[in-house]
Parts: sequence; C-alpha cells; structure tokens
Amino acid sequence: MNTKAFETYESEVRSYCRNFPAVFTTAKGPFLYDEDGREYIDFFCGAGGLNYGHNNDYIKSRLLSYLESDGVMHALDMYTVPKREFIEFYEEKILKPRGLNYKIQFAGPTGTNAVEAALKLARKVKKRTNIFAMMGAFHGMTLGSIAMTTDASSRAGAGVPLTNVTHIPAPYMFPELDTLNYIETLLTDDHSGVDKPAAIVLETVQADGGINVFDVEWLKGIRAICDKHDILMVVDDVQVGCARTGTFFSFERAGIVPDIVTQSKSIGGYGMPFALVLIRPELDLWEPGEHNGTFRGYQLSMIAAKAGLEVMLNEHVEERVQKLSAVIAQAMEEIQALSPEKIKTRGMGFVWGVDFWRFDHDGVTSKKVLDECFKNGLIVERVGRGNTVVKVMPELLIEEETLKKGLDILKNSISNVIR
Ligand SMILES: Cc1ncc(COP(=O)(O)O)c(C=O)c1O
Repeated sequence: MNTKAFETYESEVRSYCRNFPAVFTTAKGPFLYDEDGREYIDFFCGAGGLNYGHNNDYIKSRLLSYLESDGVMHALDMYTVPKREFIEFYEEKILKPRGLNYKIQFAGPTGTNAVEAALKLARKVKKRTNIFAMMGAFHGMTLGSIAMTTDASSRAGAGVPLTNVTHIPAPYMFPELDTLNYIETLLTDDHSGVDKPAAIVLETVQADGGINVFDVEWLKGIRAICDKHDILMVVDDVQVGCARTGTFFSFERAGIVPDIVTQSKSIGGYGMPFALVLIRPELDLWEPGEHNGTFRGYQLSMIAAKAGLEVMLNEHVEERVQKLSAVIAQAMEEIQALSPEKIKTRGMGFVWGVDFWRFDHDGVTSKKVLDECFKNGLIVERVGRGNTVVKVMPELLIEEETLKKGLDILKNSISNVIR
C-alpha cells in the first residue's frame, strides 16, 4: 500500500483516511474496492452522500449521455435545460405529492453552504441575530454553521468567537428536563437573559451528534413554539434526508412543515456536490445575488440529482427502508445483548448507532471496533460525544443478503473487541 504522497504532501487536516488504511480504486453499489483488490461493505456511505450506492447504473447512464452531448457543464445560475428539468421534477414528484410549497434556492454545493444561506435568510427576514440550535448538533464547518455545531474540536478550529447562537439541551441529555418548556421560558421570562431568535435550527435525527432520534411529539412542540413566537423552524436535512429515515424528508414522520429546509449530500444522487435551500415562498426575500457561489450551477449535479430522485421513486426506496430497517433493528438488539449494561443501540430507518460510552469516554473501544470491522471488510464511521458511537449507515438499495452480511461483521467485530 503506497500512501507516501498523502503522508508527505497532503495537509494534516485529512481525517477519514486515517481510519481506513487503504487506497481505494473502484466502487459499486454497497461495495468499495482497494488497490490490493480487497472488497469492503460500505456502511459509511460517503457520510450520507451516497444513499443510492456507488456508481448506480441508471444515474451513471444519465451522466454519460449528458457528457457525450457536450451539454453545458458550468452555468452559474443561468437558465439551463438540466436545471429546468430538475426543478420541474422536484416540484411535481417530490414537493406537490407531499403537499409542500417551497421555493428552491441553489446554494454553493455543500451542506454548510446551504446552512449558511438558511441562517442569513432567517436573520434577514426576522431582523434578529440570535439563533437557537441544539446541543449535539452538527451543521457544518464554516463560521455561521460552526457556531451552531457543538463538538469542541470542530469549534476549536474556528479561530474566532462563535456567537449569536443559544444552545438548547437536546431532550435526551436531561430526561427530567422538559426542553419545550425550557425554550418557552427562555422566550417569555424577561429575566432569561436570552435574545429572541430568528430561527430554531435542528436535525430531526442528530447524526454526527451520536444518532439521536427526536421524538415526534417533541418536533411538533418545536413547530408550535415557532408558530406562537414568530420564529422560523429550520430543519437541516443534509445528512438524514433523501429517504434515509424512511421518508424522503426526515420531518415527514412528525407531520410538520418547516419554514426552511436544507439539503445536500445525497440530493446529489451520485455523490455529486449539490445543495438546496427550500424556502416557504413568502420568506423568499432575497435580493438577486445576495447569496451566491460559483458552483451553484454545476450541471452534472442537477442531472445526477434528478436521476437519483427517479431511482428513489422507481425503486420505492422509502418503502424499502421502512421494511428493511427491521433487519437492522433486529441486529441492533443482538448487538445490545452482547453487553446489555454497557452497549446502547439506537436509530431508525437506515441510520443507527452503537454507543460504547459506558466502556470509555474517549472512543478507545469504538476505535477498536472500527479497526476490527475494517480488518473484516466493513467500513463504518464514529460519531458522538468522544467519538464513542459507531455509526451504521448502509446505502438504501443494498441487497438484504449484503445488509445482513455487513451487520454480521459488525456484531462479530464488536464481540471480538469486548470479550
Ligand atoms: C446535518 C448536517 N448539516 C450540515 C453538514 C455539512 O455538510 P458539508 O460537509 O457538505 O458542508 C453536515 C455534514 O456532515 C451534516 O451532517
């Protein structure tokens, strides 16, 4: 394995590669291959960017025929056929069937850029600077987003004070604390010392925070608070959107409609860089060009995004995830049974976590599990407090047999590490 170029010349900022000592070459569906011809089942899934797997044939054929046609590749936000087709498809097949009415903003093609746009717009519309975000949140690494992101090591890299955000304890942190009531008090007690926010921003399932699924009633409660106090509800669906939780938008299970939604990662269909901000029409108070970015108009992303949505609908991916999540839930029960007092598993749909916090608080056990999985041909990532949670995120089109094989590797690897 030749990694000299990376270790000599690539910045120390590189991270995932340190966990996966291999040089990858090809990939198909749920499988990754390295230079030495080893096959890995991929439960990392591009950190949520590859919901429809690696190199999906249908999406690839759309990309190839567009390339063959010398279609315009880079168009900023000029009008193009791929953009028109994407917008029409998204409105007709995704938004309207769900009774949703949003304007679509194309942001620079990363999750954090969509989040920055959402923050700017919320602050502009409400003419307030403060934002409420949840403890345990991850919203990205640029300054606005990172002010909401809570993990200490990400924040330490910011280099400036991170301001204008009030962090609210997530409901799982203090089971005895009614966080809805807490927020209500912050907003109504004239001695709370907290400025009214423009928006409450949240993930419905905290992914990088350690796989914490927010309860439907709690999500409804947040919606009600936002309505009552004239605050915008922003759902960051960058990681757990695109059917990962069993519905295209992760908030559908709560029957709520956020004011603003951010999407990136798997909306790019093929691992393509793409990001959207969905805006309730009456909030679309942007001036032309007020938030821009050179790569908002990357046409291959639009082609892949539309083709990815077609795959999602044609292959009934939402139903598939709802059904096959039982296979993961079953495996999680078995994993928890390996050490009922110390291992905790949680999740929904195709996003799950195995929590090793009760073994140690600095990720020693979870790292051993990750290494053992990798040795046995399975790629998983770690998230959460002290990186103690192993995140399980298979692609959504994975065959049941491969899913079970990957889960078996995970279970056996955990068993090897803790016995
Ligand atoms: C919920 C959420 N929001 C935003 C981001 C940032 O996305 P990006 O890494 O594309 O900037 C992430 C990335 O993991 C995320 O999980």
